[in-house]
Amino acid sequence: MAAEAQPLARGQWSSRLTFVLAATGSAVGLGNIWKFPYMAGEQGGALFVLIYLACVLCVGIPLLMAEVLMGRRGGSNLVASMRKLGTEAGARGPWPVMGWTMASCGVLILSFYSVIGGWTIAYILEMFRLHSDGLNAASATAAFRELTEHPGRSLFWHTVFMIFTTVVVARGVRHGLEKAVQILMPLLLALLLFMVVYAASLEGFAQGAKHMFVANFDKFADPEASRGIALAAIGQAFFSLSLGMGAIMIYGSYLPGAVSIPGAVLAVGLLDTLVALLAGLVIFPIVFSYGLALDSGPSLVFISMPVAFGIMPYGLLVGVLFFTLLLVAAWSSSISLLEPAVNLLHEKKIFSRGLSAWMMGLLTWLLGIATVLSFNKWAFDFTFLGKSRGNGIFDMLDILTSQIMLPVHGLLLGVFVFWVMKRSHCVEELNLGSGPLFQTIYGIGRYLAPFAIILIIVNSFLA
Ligand code: TRP
Repeated sequence: MAAEAQPLARGQWSSRLTFVLAATGSAVGLGNIWKFPYMAGEQGGALFVLIYLACVLCVGIPLLMAEVLMGRRGGSNLVASMRKLGTEAGARGPWPVMGWTMASCGVLILSFYSVIGGWTIAYILEMFRLHSDGLNAASATAAFRELTEHPGRSLFWHTVFMIFTTVVVARGVRHGLEKAVQILMPLLLALLLFMVVYAASLEGFAQGAKHMFVANFDKFADPEASRGIALAAIGQAFFSLSLGMGAIMIYGSYLPGAVSIPGAVLAVGLLDTLVALLAGLVIFPIVFSYGLALDSGPSLVFISMPVAFGIMPYGLLVGVLFFTLLLVAAWSSSISLLEPAVNLLHEKKIFSRGLSAWMMGLLTWLLGIATVLSFNKWAFDFTFLGKSRGNGIFDMLDILTSQIMLPVHGLLLGVFVFWVMKRSHCVEELNLGSGPLFQTIYGIGRYLAPFAIILIIVNSFLA
């Protein structure tokens, strides 16, 4: 593995395609297939989807370019890159601190991400049992509750998932997983397309599609009903694009100088959005066809998909394949959540790479216990911006990271690149010349993106 011979951040992708695949592997994950549909369900459907798409385009894509650009120009771990870029720009201010907070944010996200990742492993096996016992809405619901209401079972699969993640990060990500992702990601896309065709044959398809794409603008008029939707949508855009915690910055630091960043980033953003929309187009029709609850939260995918597998021909095969591919998608994302923190401890010469990985893995595993218990012994309700949440610490961690830490980090990244860094360095890195295309991106990054983030945060909390 290259990491043993040289620090990981100094490695290089062999081509733009490798970068696009790795970044897509990071972006496409549980966020698209598990989280996006249940957020859209809870937050009222099309209005959420609309704001989400606008955020991806106007905030996500330009900031993703900014994050890749900082990674490539910094060429090092998060803290050293921030220091180098800060010095180069003549900026004072505690920019390197952001390196530490971004790496911590990844660990916090991974602590709950891994519990859900563990459920996908459990479901690969569960499909066999459920299928022989007869799958329907009631048995699928019971199976989910059985898994999550017994802390021991969730904890076991969380442990397995964390080991999967840590092993890869300890050995470096460039061999093995990267190769697997090249085959499995296209397969996931193909399977999702197949499922959309299946969903289109259901009687609830029109209703499902309508729920996703036809916005009810009356909600805009009702501040209570629309409260929090924009913040949830921008948070989901950041989460889904892996934006705002340095994962993409580390990946950007492997990008050879000649590669054009905007094209690569656009490809990642489009693929990520496509997968989320396809997942919604599969899940909502199932929900409407079988009378499942739209606002069932984290259980949505784990109940709605098995119901479909119970009815369709070759359902067992399709179901096992689906959860296997979901596992791979989650896995290629989880390594990017752990990598920045491990890389930081390693390059700061605090520990060797292997030891850094296992120590951070252990810490994340311990934090994850809080999420395991959020679905049973520690479950409690609270209300955030008008929506009630039922899964205590898990929901709090999710809100803290997706809806607060990621947007705030994104804002700071944007301010750094589009206000603090020299414009000529941006021209150089984006490699687009300084014509109208560059000016548009630069203008959006400088004015529209930070304005949108601030507006949404202020409006959510103060309005
Ligand atoms: N984007 C991934 C998903 O959608 C999760 C993820 C990976 C992530 N790396 C990240 C989220 C960095 C935020 C920041 O499942």
